[in-house]
Amino acid sequence: MSFGVGKFEMDEMRLVIGSMVILSGATALLVVLPYLLLKDIQPPEGLKPYTEVQLQGRQSYIANGCIYCHSQQPRDISQAPDALRGWGRASIAADYAYDTPHLLGTMRTGPDLLNIGARQPSRDWHLGHLYAPRAYTPGSTMPAYPYMFEVRQGAAKPGEVVVNLPPAYAKPGQVVVAKPEALALVEYLLSLDRTYPALKAEEDPPVNRRAPR
Ligand code: HEC
Repeated sequence: MSFGVGKFEMDEMRLVIGSMVILSGATALLVVLPYLLLKDIQPPEGLKPYTEVQLQGRQSYIANGCIYCHSQQPRDISQAPDALRGWGRASIAADYAYDTPHLLGTMRTGPDLLNIGARQPSRDWHLGHLYAPRAYTPGSTMPAYPYMFEVRQGAAKPGEVVVNLPPAYAKPGQVVVAKPEALALVEYLLSLDRTYPALKAEEDPPVNRRAPR
């Protein structure tokens, strides 16, 4: 009879030690290293914190699954022609200083939205597009969000925001009024503007000047 470590216990030990090595390696790479790299990043001067209303709109962006079709991460020209598409410079970590959770997205069924506030600054356009995407972009596969609006016969009440639809989509005698959710979502979309320079002038890479001949 032997009281030594049996084969079964040896295998078990290897499994446990092996898993711990892999887990600590993964934690170092995916948690500790990114934390060390990003912990000192300051919000850029051109970036303002979200207002209360913009944060409500951000929640609605999450709740309505906009992230399933839209990214918020224009890429460098070496990876994708995003700059040529007019989506702006490649984003940097500091652009997301106020984003918790970040909404980078992985799918691009629709355009990247990190600079949509600069690209399309019209509240009217955004409201109308959320109510009826195909009224603005024929053939668009973006879903409409009619529950963020109230369709009513007659006139709007004072203080209400009426959606100005293109003439072909406006029905006579009927008004489409934006509910607070639509207004907050559009405030959030308009806040998406990272067009300030990525680097401060003194941090920009030096120009390799040649001596005059
Ligand atoms: C099923 C995919 C899908 C979902 C979900 C979706 N979109 Fe879109 N979106 C698109 C497509 C495709 C386009 C391009 C055609 C168009 O303009 O409608 C687009 C265009 C846009 C544009 C105009 C972009 C530009 O550069 O002109 C905005 C703004 C926008 N979407 C916002 C939203 C918001 C906000 C939500 C969530 C409430 C959302 N989208 C959900 C597919 C989607």
